[in-house]
Amino acid sequence: MTIQWFPGHMHATRKAIAERMKTTDVVIELLDARLPGSSANPALAGLTATRPRLKILNKQDLADPARTAEWLKHYAAQQATGAIALDASQAAPAQRQAIIDACRTLAPGRQGLSRPMRVLICGIPNVGKSTLINTLSRKRQAKAADEAGVTKQEQRILLADDFYLYDTPGMLWPKIIVPESGYRLAASGAVGRNAYDEEEVALELLAYLKRRYADALQARFKLAAHGAAAIAAMREEELLEAIARQRGALLGGGRVNTQKAAEIVLTDFRSGSIGPITLETVKEFGRWLADGRRVEAERKRAREEALRAKGGGSSGRGNARDAGE
Ligand code: G4P
Repeated sequence: MTIQWFPGHMHATRKAIAERMKTTDVVIELLDARLPGSSANPALAGLTATRPRLKILNKQDLADPARTAEWLKHYAAQQATGAIALDASQAAPAQRQAIIDACRTLAPGRQGLSRPMRVLICGIPNVGKSTLINTLSRKRQAKAADEAGVTKQEQRILLADDFYLYDTPGMLWPKIIVPESGYRLAASGAVGRNAYDEEEVALELLAYLKRRYADALQARFKLAAHGAAAIAAMREEELLEAIARQRGALLGGGRVNTQKAAEIVLTDFRSGSIGPITLETVKEFGRWLADGRRVEAERKRAREEALRAKGGGSSGRGNARDAGE
């Protein structure tokens, strides 16, 4: 299965971000700490390449702390990049200060009323951008609708007299480059419910959790009859069935309601009830991405070859156009 995701047009957002870059000192990229790689929009890297970047791993309260530390180290090792983790729903003044300090480190020249710091904050839907902006601005900001086609006014939030935070003009949609990212974005709630089959996403989630977080699964779903090692050895379909029985998600005739069980698994994951979990390590994501790019390159080559083969019998003009592409 693939995630049937048809995000809104990114063209206007790309243009607006490119325009805003001219007067931006630091770009904050808000990521989901449970899936930092998958929750990044690859288009952003190209658009903001000329500016220092602060990666904020949000929802750290829901993520595995050891993995968050690993991702922070990975980002901090990149050129002109800072990285911090936080929980945007916590209105801790220390968080606000950590963001200000990290930006000042990245752009030390920007200070004082004549040279204020101008920061652009970007992030895919549901990553917690409105929550963070509300927390930072200490007053309720209107939340823009997530639907494609809804125009969003650019917001400017004053973090200090000489520190402006700009919200992204437009929606930055996630881009699903590899199937693994699609499943993770769906499990996290970043992709609309109509775009995927909950049972398939829950099975994919269980396939990962049983390998990496078998103890947490056992504890949450009271699978006492199955040890952690036994859980890891179970097929995810069996696991979903065991969870359904445990939670009383049953249909008539002793059959289990796997759809209901899938909803339970997804809801429990999203609320953090299974425990602090991260769905990808730096290494895993790197491997998926490399595989995804290889497949994409092969597809492109095959397309070009097919076009060339077709163009062989067509007019010279067609051939010239192909060659120029
Ligand atoms: P967005 O603007 O990027 O689209 O995201 P938004 O702030 O609306 O946040 C999406 C959901 O994530 C919200 O939950 C929000 O409360 C939650 N959230 C944001 N930051 C954090 C965090 O650091 N930790 C945790 N645990 N949750 C966070 P919701 O259920 O969709 O809405 P609500 O119940 O808060 O109203």
